[in-house]
Amino acid sequence: MAFIDTVRSRRSVRTFDGKALAEDELSELLDYCRGIGNPYGLPLEWLLFDSGKTGLSSPVIVGEKTYITAKMKRAPHAEEAFGYTFERMVLHAAEKGIGTTWIAGTMDRKAFEKAAGLGDGEILPCVSPLGRPAAKMSLREIMMRKGISADTRFSFEKLFFAGSFDRPLTKEDAGDLAGILEAVRLAPSACNYQPWRLVTADGAVHFFLKRSKGFGEGRVFDTQKIDIGIAMCHFALAAEEAGRPVSLSLEDPGLETPDGEIYVATYRFD
Ligand SMILES: Cc1cc2nc3c(=O)[nH]c(=O)nc-3n(C[C@H](O)[C@H](O)[C@H](O)COP(=O)(O)O)c2cc1C
Repeated sequence: MAFIDTVRSRRSVRTFDGKALAEDELSELLDYCRGIGNPYGLPLEWLLFDSGKTGLSSPVIVGEKTYITAKMKRAPHAEEAFGYTFERMVLHAAEKGIGTTWIAGTMDRKAFEKAAGLGDGEILPCVSPLGRPAAKMSLREIMMRKGISADTRFSFEKLFFAGSFDRPLTKEDAGDLAGILEAVRLAPSACNYQPWRLVTADGAVHFFLKRSKGFGEGRVFDTQKIDIGIAMCHFALAAEEAGRPVSLSLEDPGLETPDGEIYVATYRFD
């Protein structure tokens, strides 16, 4: 499947068919996860939980039998690394017809952290159910999707800029970047806030965070930097598929940031 088709067909799945995935499907997924690297070189430890045996659940998910999560050492850029790596799992699962939902809020966090044996200095930012989507969404899922406008995304011009923030980039003007940026535009984010803002430069693209109200830094981890890691994942995979691989570099271009955008990372074309 072309990468953009995987991106288009993935959605958060909150209603499952009530059946466990086969053991070999779960072990294939876990093997895949253990092989995922990330541009920051920060390792994640992956964990699977049988929800029946552990009692782990989420109030917004029904019919699930398994959860997947990952823990890692707290470190600079841990959130971007987590977002990038966990999204690779989400996209791989989508290719296999396995449903997932990123969950950072609607869960009993303490119960998951205990089950994962979370140690001092470690973080477990998100979990996801795993399973086959049910034929029909639950009413709660339908209402939730409506409430956060989960089926919509911001326009190109709101998210992408050519050289500086006073020059919004249209899809038409994006040239051979258009397809790569479209894959970023459609990425999932917490509350569907899509906090990434990308500024193109000569041979590079800078990623900024436009922070939403209520999402601060002073927490155990910064959820919106996870969103930036997700956007970076979509960018890197789409670029690679287009035959234009990228490498991470941290080189704040020192741009004017009229809306308080925060510099996070740069991808430079190899
Ligand atoms: C970091 C992150 C955290 C999220 N946390 C939750 C959550 O706690 N509960 C939930 O139901 N959905 C959660 N979501 C899913 C988003 O609401 C969803 O991705 C977004 O609304 C877009 O919908 P889609 O995934 O169907 O495209 C989270 C997504 C991300 C990326």
